[in-house]
Amino acid sequence: MSVTTPAPHGSEREASTRHPMVGGLPITIEPVSEPLSDAVRRERMREPGFGRVFSEHMLTIRWTRDGGWQDASLHRYGPLVLDPATSALHYGQSVFEGFKVYRGADGSVAAFRPEANAERFRASSRRLCLPELPVDVFVDAVDLLVAHDHEWVPTAPGHTLYIRPLLFASEPELVVRPSEECLFVLTAFVAADYFPRGLTPVSVWVADHFVRAAPGGTGAAKCAANYAAGLAAQAEAAEHGCDQVVFLDAVERRWIEELGGMNLLFVYGGDVPRIVTPELTGTLLPGITRDSLLTIARDLGYAVEERRISVDEWEADVRSGAMTEAFACGTAAVLTPVGRVRRGDAQWTIGDGGTGPVTASLRERLLAVQTGAAPDPHGWLRRIEPSEALRP
Ligand code: PLP
Ligand code: COI
Repeated sequence: MSVTTPAPHGSEREASTRHPMVGGLPITIEPVSEPLSDAVRRERMREPGFGRVFSEHMLTIRWTRDGGWQDASLHRYGPLVLDPATSALHYGQSVFEGFKVYRGADGSVAAFRPEANAERFRASSRRLCLPELPVDVFVDAVDLLVAHDHEWVPTAPGHTLYIRPLLFASEPELVVRPSEECLFVLTAFVAADYFPRGLTPVSVWVADHFVRAAPGGTGAAKCAANYAAGLAAQAEAAEHGCDQVVFLDAVERRWIEELGGMNLLFVYGGDVPRIVTPELTGTLLPGITRDSLLTIARDLGYAVEERRISVDEWEADVRSGAMTEAFACGTAAVLTPVGRVRRGDAQWTIGDGGTGPVTASLRERLLAVQTGAAPDPHGWLRRIEPSEALRP
C-alpha cells in the first residue's frame, strides 16, 4: 500500500467492537482512547485561524481500480505517510470540498448542505478521472466524524467546524494516467471568520494578464491545481493594494467570472432589488453559498439574473449609480462586501464603499438559517447527534 495512516493504539483497536457502516461500506471505528481534556480543547479552539486546529479524529477510505472502495476507518487524526512517487504530488490529480458544521443557540449541531457538497465532489472527481464516492458514503462519513468530534463544534460566535473532504491519486507510479489507487481523507478543523474584519468591505483587483480557467478546462471542478494557478494573480492583486483578485473569461477577457475562492454577486438597488451573477458557464465553480443566496433572494421576491456581465458594464453601472452593491460569497467567508474595484489605472467605488443594506440583510438571513435561528424551508441543515461512545 502506498499510503499509510497512523497505526491505532492497541487499546483503540480493541475498542472497535461494533460493525458499523458508511453507506454500504463496513468501517472500522477506533476512537481515541484518551481524548483531550475540555480545558486543553477549549484553549486550542480559542484562536483557531483557518485550517490549523484539527479535531481529534479523521476518516479514510481507500480505493483501488480492482477492489473499489475499501478499508474505511475512523481513527486518530495524524499525518499520512506518502511515497515520494505518489502521483497526486506530481500531477495534481486531487479534489477537495469544504462546508461548515454550525452549533445552534440550543446547542444542537448541524451540517449545512453536505449532500450538495457530496454531489459536487463527485462532479469534480469525474472531471479529474478520480473515482466517484457515493453520496451516502460521503454523508454517512461526515455524520460519523462529527458525531465523534461533536465537542469540537465551537460555541464562539462566528466560529464553526469546517469539514474538509479530500480525494487524491495515491498510486506510487509516475506514468501520466488516472491512478489505480486513491485515498479519501475526511478531516475537520475549527474555523474563525475567514476575513477577521467581518463585514468590512474588501477591495478587488481585476486580473487582465492571468486567467483561472478556460472553456473545456477544470474551472467548474474543485481541484487542487485551480488554487495553485490562482496564486500569482492573487499576489499581483496584493502588490496593487487589493485584497482579492477577480478573474475574467479566458477567451474575450471581458466577462466577469469569480474570485480565487468565492463567487461574485451584484445588486441593483430599487424598491425590489435585482441580483445579477455570472452564469455557470463551466469555467467557474458552482458555489453552494451562491445557490443558497440566490434561493433566499428569490424567496424574498427579488429579481435574480444569472447571465454574462462584463467588467465594462460593472464600471459603467457603478458610475451611473444603477449598481449599488456587490459582494463575494463562499463557504469560508459566507458573504463579504466588495467596496472598491481596481483595473489597471482605473478604479471605482461601489456605493459609498461600505456595506449595503441588501448585502447585510442577505448575510444575516443566510447565517440565521445556518445557525438554526430562522426556519429552514429548503431542508438545508442536516442535524448530527453526538456518538454514543461520547455519551456518559
Ligand atoms: N469559487 C471558488 C473558486 C471556490 O473555491 C469557492 C469555495 O468553495 C467558491 C467559489 C464558493 O463555493 P461554496 O459556496 O460552495 O463554498
Ligand atoms: C471555501 O470557501 O470554503 C473554500 O473552499 C475556499 C478556499 C478556502 C479554498
